[in-house]
Amino acid sequence: MAERTAKLSVDGNEIDLPVLSPSEGYDAIDIGVLIKEGYVTYDPGFMSTASCESTITYIDGDEGILLHRGYPIEQLAEQSNYLELTYLLLYGKLPDQTEFEEYKSRIRQETFVDERLVALCSSLPRDAHPMGVVCSLVGAMSAIYHNEVDITDAVCRDQVSIRLIAQIPICAAIAYRHSIGKPMLPANPDLDYAEHFLHLMFSEAEDSPVNPVLAKAMDRIFLLHADHEQNASTSTVRLAGSTDANPYASIAAGIAALWGPSHGGANEAVLAMLNDIGSLDKIGGYVAKAKNPDDPFRIMGFGHRVYKNYDPRATVMQQTCDEVLNELGIESDPILQMARALEKIALEDEYFVERRLYPNVDFYSGIILKAMGIPVELFTVIFVTGRTSGWIAQWCELVSEAYKIGRPRQMYTGSCNRDYVPIEAR
Ligand code: CMC
Repeated sequence: MAERTAKLSVDGNEIDLPVLSPSEGYDAIDIGVLIKEGYVTYDPGFMSTASCESTITYIDGDEGILLHRGYPIEQLAEQSNYLELTYLLLYGKLPDQTEFEEYKSRIRQETFVDERLVALCSSLPRDAHPMGVVCSLVGAMSAIYHNEVDITDAVCRDQVSIRLIAQIPICAAIAYRHSIGKPMLPANPDLDYAEHFLHLMFSEAEDSPVNPVLAKAMDRIFLLHADHEQNASTSTVRLAGSTDANPYASIAAGIAALWGPSHGGANEAVLAMLNDIGSLDKIGGYVAKAKNPDDPFRIMGFGHRVYKNYDPRATVMQQTCDEVLNELGIESDPILQMARALEKIALEDEYFVERRLYPNVDFYSGIILKAMGIPVELFTVIFVTGRTSGWIAQWCELVSEAYKIGRPRQMYTGSCNRDYVPIEAR
């Protein structure tokens, strides 16, 4: 019996529910016994539901805090790098130098262009959205590697994790180069992770140099997207994983969930919205549209289910954005000016203030990626590239301990039991 219990009283029937204390965050009421009493809980959109126990990432949405394995995102962004963070997410600790060198060497071993993925991609339409293509390529990895996956084996799970982290930027590059009709460059595992990504994506030739400012910014973008506890895509990966599904297929399911504009697709939607607004004088009209309860339009890149304060990733992203714009000398870009004006108006508007709607990570990532010259349709693919480490760390956490298949209940509101009427009699 837990030390503390909550009492639920329904029609005079008192039910004791254990109250669990996490290391950080809200206490959790364990409602597992309710089904035996003939009740389910009803929480569409999981507004108040913790779906699992996890030691990886913690968010305090009121205070605007994000911790990975206890380390604040601001410190990681300032002092660490994306690959070190992937190690931290996977293994729960920061590596020492030897461990990190060994880890990077394992990533390098899995850094190669798989011609089967290139061939598969070439059969897809040129104008396919790169998110659909990357989802297909990772789905194809489930077919390629299925026979060697044993999810009960820790060594195998580790191998899957390393391979996915190494291969995901390559899948992104295969998708992009196919879309612009350019052949893949060979992999160069000696380059840093983010540098290699930019090289495979955008270099004209094998020996073309990558701008170090852009490589540093890209590394930070990957780092800021690496994990974000039980968001829609991570929950999708866990739900698929809970059926003992192939891990590559579970990650492909996460990619599908991330694509939507309410989630990772928001970075692309921010740019589409800014293009649609078109000029500074039209911003007021769009803000009014967003505030109109009868209009479904929302300011993309604003608001968050958990953050009711500044998204700490957005704060770091904003700084990176300033650095990149400064470095590239493109502060006068009209789209960027519009983004800044929109941000200012929304932050001062009572509607946004009352609802605690702040710019989220996607607002600034859209702007910074645009400034870096990245094609808009690749924005969410970049989110995928960073988030794959978080997904696979969450999947490893799930399957390395006892777990149940994820199977929510429902509140049925359809017709009650009725008799079938033959078609001639209807
Ligand atoms: N613009 C205008 N109004 C908004 C916005 C927005 N972007 N976001 C929320 N609201 C309003 C909403 O209409 C509602 O108003 P009311 O109380 O009068 O009905 C109130 O704020 C609460 O909104 P909600 O829909 O109940 O909040 P939610 O937690 O279900 O949705 C969200 C969160 C992120 C889906 C939503 O804020 C949104 O659609 N934002 C725009 C898309 C976006 O930027 N998504 C990226 C999220 S961050 C990156 C990631 O994790 O993927």
